[in-house]
Amino acid sequence: MRMYDIITKKKRGGELTKEEIDFFIAGFTRGEIPDYQASSLLMAICFVGMTDKETYLMTDAMMHSGDTLDLSRFGELSVDKHSTGGVGDKTTLVVAPLVASLGAKVAKMSGRGLGHTGGTVDKLESFAGYRTELSPEEFMRQVEEVGICVIGQSGELAPADKKLYALRDVTATVDSIPLITGSIMSKKLAAGSKSIVLDVKYGSGGFMKTPGDAEALARKMVRIGRSLGRRVAALITSMDAPLGYGIGNAIEVREAMEVLRGRGPSDLREVCLSLASTMLHLSLGYSPEEARALATEALDQGLALRKFEEWISRQGATSLELPLAKYEKTVYATHSGYLNKIDTEAVGNLSVSLGGGRRQKTDKIDHTAGIILSLSLGDYVDAGAPIGVLYTTEHPEALDAVASALAQTLTIEDKKTEALPPLIYKTILGDEE
Ligand code: URA
Repeated sequence: MRMYDIITKKKRGGELTKEEIDFFIAGFTRGEIPDYQASSLLMAICFVGMTDKETYLMTDAMMHSGDTLDLSRFGELSVDKHSTGGVGDKTTLVVAPLVASLGAKVAKMSGRGLGHTGGTVDKLESFAGYRTELSPEEFMRQVEEVGICVIGQSGELAPADKKLYALRDVTATVDSIPLITGSIMSKKLAAGSKSIVLDVKYGSGGFMKTPGDAEALARKMVRIGRSLGRRVAALITSMDAPLGYGIGNAIEVREAMEVLRGRGPSDLREVCLSLASTMLHLSLGYSPEEARALATEALDQGLALRKFEEWISRQGATSLELPLAKYEKTVYATHSGYLNKIDTEAVGNLSVSLGGGRRQKTDKIDHTAGIILSLSLGDYVDAGAPIGVLYTTEHPEALDAVASALAQTLTIEDKKTEALPPLIYKTILGDEE
């Protein structure tokens, strides 16, 4: 078999066979297929697409390119969630203990921040002592005894994706629905949970800019996950504004804990309840309505908060106190009007400038850094009233520049826009796929 022939076939619109896909994934992972041939095939896939059968075969080959986690000891109860990435998206910190408090088993590997988007592992490290690396035995024991454990990616999970993603990143081949499906689903399937709920973001801070594209991606991921033997559902949610008001690691943990106390921003609470009920529906078999009622009660009566505290302490945190920033600066509106639009990706990047994320892999995170917005989409603000507060400990020199840049990311106009984006565009339970 020759890579040249596989590239030609795809370029002409052909459907690749299992043998051809296995040849490509295994050969590329082993370093036997050069980057220039792999890039050429990836670009052909971007233009021509892949059928569901090809996407299924590629995802399966990528999932089996490295270690897979065996969670069969938890039977039907293991459940995972995945967000395609966002700004201020702290939902895992709420939904994971929430569903665990009701009997689901969350054995989760989470990522670090990437570009303008945050990562759960960085957020959890805001707690002094929290351990993101555990031995496989410690990991399994904690899931068994506490119902939840969240660590960083460990072992060699889907190494094919690691190599392919690095190549896609520099060859303009990220934005392809079959390639994103293979990338995300191979990792989630290798991580072993029986049920998976996907939070596919659309809007100015998401990978997919329109709800239609997000839906096409969500449906494909649901179909592929189901054909590989898992229960998969997806929510399509807005990233046209940060979720909640807080962006930045300790800031986001604090806001998530507010939701766990039955308070917190209404958009964040709503997405958390929707994700958690879908997870409970898939893993514990409740109807969507029963699951929603149970999740609401667990939040409002403190069950989820107690599970959160048990989890964080068990995983090494020496205190539930969170660090505070040394410097802060309030940013004020220069004119009155309605907040009609937010450049969410730019807001995420401003938090990175204050130290809340990394520009390079080796950068150290300032867990206190970030932004708390004073407004949400559609709100009215008077000239001279606050639009947000900036926080940092390590980069006070960035405060002035970030303050003027923040004002540019918010579109404040005299007339209120009619069409605010729906927070939850659609829920795909998967039964109809
Ligand atoms: N996130 C991933 O893990 N992979 C992609 O291809 C896109 C987003």
